[in-house]
Amino acid sequence: MFCPSEFRTGKTQLSHTLCVTAQLPGEDSYTGGKVIFIDTENTFRPDRLKNIADRFNVDHDAVLDNVLYARAYTSEHQMELLDFVAAKFHEEGGIFKLLIIDSIMALFRVDFSSRGELAERQQKLAQMLSRLQKISEEYNVAVFVTNQITADPGAGMSFQADPKKPIGGHILAHASTTRISLRKGHGELRIAKIFDSPDMPENEATFTITPGGIADAKE
Ligand code: GTP
Ligand code: MG
Repeated sequence: MFCPSEFRTGKTQLSHTLCVTAQLPGEDSYTGGKVIFIDTENTFRPDRLKNIADRFNVDHDAVLDNVLYARAYTSEHQMELLDFVAAKFHEEGGIFKLLIIDSIMALFRVDFSSRGELAERQQKLAQMLSRLQKISEEYNVAVFVTNQITADPGAGMSFQADPKKPIGGHILAHASTTRISLRKGHGELRIAKIFDSPDMPENEATFTITPGGIADAKE
């Protein structure tokens, strides 16, 4: 799943919430399981998980024990971490249910910042995405990645209909099964729009960011 959105819309908060909810048993005999969180922006906060755990009435230590955390410092390091991820999934077969990368493009933006490096960046990104796809299928683990949308610097000149584009472009879009875009609504409300899903119609839902994580909007 892929979550391209504007800044401060709740991508990191959603990632934290998923760390907890992925551990809980759910529909279709889902048993819940462990999570790996790859953090590229140093925005992971274990204390947030405690608040979210309280909301779902689960033990702090149990929740924290079930989230394996890794900080990536460069795009190359991010790729190397996938070896560690695959090894973990292999070691503890069937125990891990979710891999989160928040955010997938942040380090690529830094490492390949000039226009001349775009082709190389997209090539490296494609390699990472194909690795993620393989790991996901081999170990039956869901992959959730976040990404930012930026105003396209060329858009003003080309009169594009939608000047906001996800960084990473079509390679990232095509590699994801289901995409959810987040945007700000009135006040504290946020809107999540699901699109390009193979098994769900396009739809929108409003939510808020609470101390207990992402929650349905009351209104
Ligand atoms: P970028 O990574 O900068 O693109 O942002 P993001 O989409 O990851 O946004 P993030 O998930 O960091 O959400 C930021 C919003 O969450 C801010 O508006 C915060 O006020 C809100 N927020 C963060 N922590 C808490 C909390 O503990 N309680 C509540 N109620 N809101 C919080
Ligand atoms: Mg974030």
